Amino acid sequence: MDDLDLTDLDRFAHGFPYEVFDELRREAPVWWHPATEHTPGGEGFWVISRYTDVVAAASDATTFSSEGGPGRTGGGTLIEDLPGGFAAGVLLNMMDAPRHQHFRRLLTPSLTPRTLQTIEEDLRRRAERIVDAALAKGECDFLTDVAAELPLQAVAQLLGVPQEDRHQLLLWADATLDHEDRALGESTERTQQAAAEMFAYGTALLERKRTDPADDLLSLAAHARIDGAPLSDLEEQMLFNLLIAAGSETTRNAIAVGVHAMIDNPHTWERLQGNRQQLPTAIEEMLRWSSPTPYNRRTATRDITLGGQQIRAGDKVTLWWASANRDDETFPGAYRFDITRTPNPHLAFGRGGHFCLGAALARMEMRVVLDTLLDRVDSLELTAPIEHTRSNKHTGIRHMPIHLTPR
Ligand code: HEM
Repeated sequence: MDDLDLTDLDRFAHGFPYEVFDELRREAPVWWHPATEHTPGGEGFWVISRYTDVVAAASDATTFSSEGGPGRTGGGTLIEDLPGGFAAGVLLNMMDAPRHQHFRRLLTPSLTPRTLQTIEEDLRRRAERIVDAALAKGECDFLTDVAAELPLQAVAQLLGVPQEDRHQLLLWADATLDHEDRALGESTERTQQAAAEMFAYGTALLERKRTDPADDLLSLAAHARIDGAPLSDLEEQMLFNLLIAAGSETTRNAIAVGVHAMIDNPHTWERLQGNRQQLPTAIEEMLRWSSPTPYNRRTATRDITLGGQQIRAGDKVTLWWASANRDDETFPGAYRFDITRTPNPHLAFGRGGHFCLGAALARMEMRVVLDTLLDRVDSLELTAPIEHTRSNKHTGIRHMPIHLTPR
């Protein structure tokens, strides 16, 4: 463990380093990661890798805050501290109770499986057009041509963003999340410019939703009240950013990494073609397998013992969903991609009060894309090696050259 550095993004450039976490779960399940030359703020942090410990911490939001803790002005759910009052405490996912619950309650009704049923048919038609266009090409980039498209179209629809602007938004979101050419916690001219342009776009869009509301999530946020007061401009703006990023970055990786696992295990594709009833368990396994959000951070608000280690108030604590999802204690044969796995209590969407608000949407998008692919595609074949995302915050694929054979 001496030279282990989870803040060196080169560690993640060829995919998530599962082998490192196997060792951590075995040898040091609650491990103090010392600061290295790559670690933002020069401050170490705890690494929680076992399923039971991750669940325990995620389920106790009072002790493990998403916002911040004693002795620090910033906080949030990334390893690097984000400024308090700008991101921490303002972004829905970096907010603590009671405001977090009130804020979350505003959005929940728009994202239940029942509400989402009303857009399923529309998403199916969109998925058919996406898959047909990819089939017409024969050879395509599965990530950009297929996996990214439906989540992006869906989130644009849901938020009330004009569809013709969606690719521009994706470019901005990608630029702010991408770590191809920068270290953790660093910004470049390109990331700053993208963030500024997205901010200006969001401000104008939210203004339109205030004066000319429609039946969409941003209009809802623009007119919402908590304790009789509207959300702050910054809260609305940050919600817009969060939903664009969360809605487009993660689901595409669950689809692409999951389909990649099926290419590696061709019998799973054939099985699903013969028995579509197995799709729900296959989707859960794709989520466990891909773990598109590998970790979220908390800050300890009080001294606490976890896994025999003394965590101090104010310490940063990282919860590694991806590692928990390969824990053999919970998932026998965790390295087997098993589309019939039951039960499958994976943590791809997190656990506790911050459990992913978009889980039902993501599952529906996956179901619609896979159904359409299974209907129309006989087999999928990689034509060149895939490229991974160089990030410890998003596990996924940047490019996936593929040949599709029609059914
Ligand atoms: C496969 C796709 C997805 C994965 C793997 C994923 C993963 C996660 C995880 C792990 C969390 C918990 C964060 C924490 O505990 O700190 C989370 C929260 C959240 N996700 Fe997702 N997500 C996905 C799709 C989506 C989509 C499609 C949306 C939006 C439409 C979305 C919106 C959110 C929001 C708003 C939160 C914050 C909830 C809160 O703090 O109360 N996610 N997601």
